[in-house]
Amino acid sequence: MKLTILGGGGFRVPLVYGALLGDHADGRVTRVVLHDVDAGRLRAIARVLAERAAGVPDAPEVTATTDLDEALRGADFVFSAIRVGGLEGRADDERIALAEGVLGQETVGAGGIAFGLRTVPVAVDIARRVARLAPDAWVINFTNPAGLVTEAMSRHLGDRVIGICDSPVGLGRRVARVLGARPAEAWVDYVGLNHLGWVRGLRIAGRDELPRLLADPVLLGSFEEGRLFGADWLRSLGAIPNEYLHYYYFNREAVHAYREAGRTRGAFLRDQQAGFYAGVADPAVPALELWDRTRAEREATYMAENREAAGAGEREAEDLSGGYENVALALMRAIARDERATLILNVRNRGTLAALDGDAVIEVPCLVDAHGAHPVAVDPLPGHATGLVCAVKAVEREVLDAARSGSRTAAVKAFALHPLVDSVNVARRLVDGYAAVHPGLAYLR
Ligand code: G6P
Ligand code: MN
Repeated sequence: MKLTILGGGGFRVPLVYGALLGDHADGRVTRVVLHDVDAGRLRAIARVLAERAAGVPDAPEVTATTDLDEALRGADFVFSAIRVGGLEGRADDERIALAEGVLGQETVGAGGIAFGLRTVPVAVDIARRVARLAPDAWVINFTNPAGLVTEAMSRHLGDRVIGICDSPVGLGRRVARVLGARPAEAWVDYVGLNHLGWVRGLRIAGRDELPRLLADPVLLGSFEEGRLFGADWLRSLGAIPNEYLHYYYFNREAVHAYREAGRTRGAFLRDQQAGFYAGVADPAVPALELWDRTRAEREATYMAENREAAGAGEREAEDLSGGYENVALALMRAIARDERATLILNVRNRGTLAALDGDAVIEVPCLVDAHGAHPVAVDPLPGHATGLVCAVKAVEREVLDAARSGSRTAAVKAFALHPLVDSVNVARRLVDGYAAVHPGLAYLR
């Protein structure tokens, strides 16, 4: 089986490859083709993979190319994990938004819109090529903003593109852990959009255990989201939000913390990763070791500003390995071998949330088999959550419209309609500011 990884020179590719190395069953991936626009990054990651594969007799063969069509031809699965504009672009997204006093996070608020505007045209081009060159392939989209990008690609690939994120999985795992259950035996009632969802219940042997958690301040203080949002607010909500909702519920504090920070997340990662890729270019440097050290530092500092603003302290050791690669592998196995699995994924709504149309991509538990991912029926969200989901989906639709038509007016509308952008004038200046620095936005007229 051939797996093509787009963004194959990306820093998290060794995680995916590591998961593949642990799969020895029939029907496993035997060939990995890395594609990237940057040959130097491909060489660096290929070195890390080679060191990881040492001593594994059935390690998947790895090749690398900068030719997209060649990479796609004959693929059974395509992982798309690209970053249009690189980490420099991410840092610009943050800087320009913060200068206007609004959030510039890569998936939430103004930053997510800017990132979406330059990523969607590239993702659509990839989707078209997949439809032509590998029409039977399944596309697993990691590219952020993952829900929006998956929806853009689904217009060309239908249900053959599935978006993934590890944040709902991590949340479900933590809630199960504090309730003393094994994650595998818990049913997590979670729904929303990517980075905008809520756990409304957690059933163990058919019984909802979430009320027990919400009633217990000690349990609530014992895991990441409990500390981030605080026991009082979680009790008021009657649900546990995805960690990214911290940017909404505590927006003022989050913006303040990001403005005060010496460097934004994007700027930190830009510098950190530049050091890593430069280091690996030196053949005397042990590549895997450097990669692992860099990864540990990246994970330890994830959402540090939010945790600081909330007084939430350090991350738990168990939370430091995200599990993003395991979701990807579980999804691929379920499809390729018809091993039924339940996974929280980004798929087309198809009637699951009545407030959204059938083509809107949502994040929801899905039953996965050889025919793909099928969203399970869930209870409706409460009014305030439905409001937020609809508002953000409307923003995503403006982004898709701007990317399709090249309309600057649609781009302004996307920023202006976002709940975390507080003025139409700010939206106009954001479009000007982003268009001035991002070559990927030259299409806006
Ligand atoms: C979480 C999110 C991902 C994001 C990742 C890395 O897992 O769900 O969407 O890509 O964190 O975040 P970072 O800030 O380290 O790039
Ligand atoms: Mn994510």
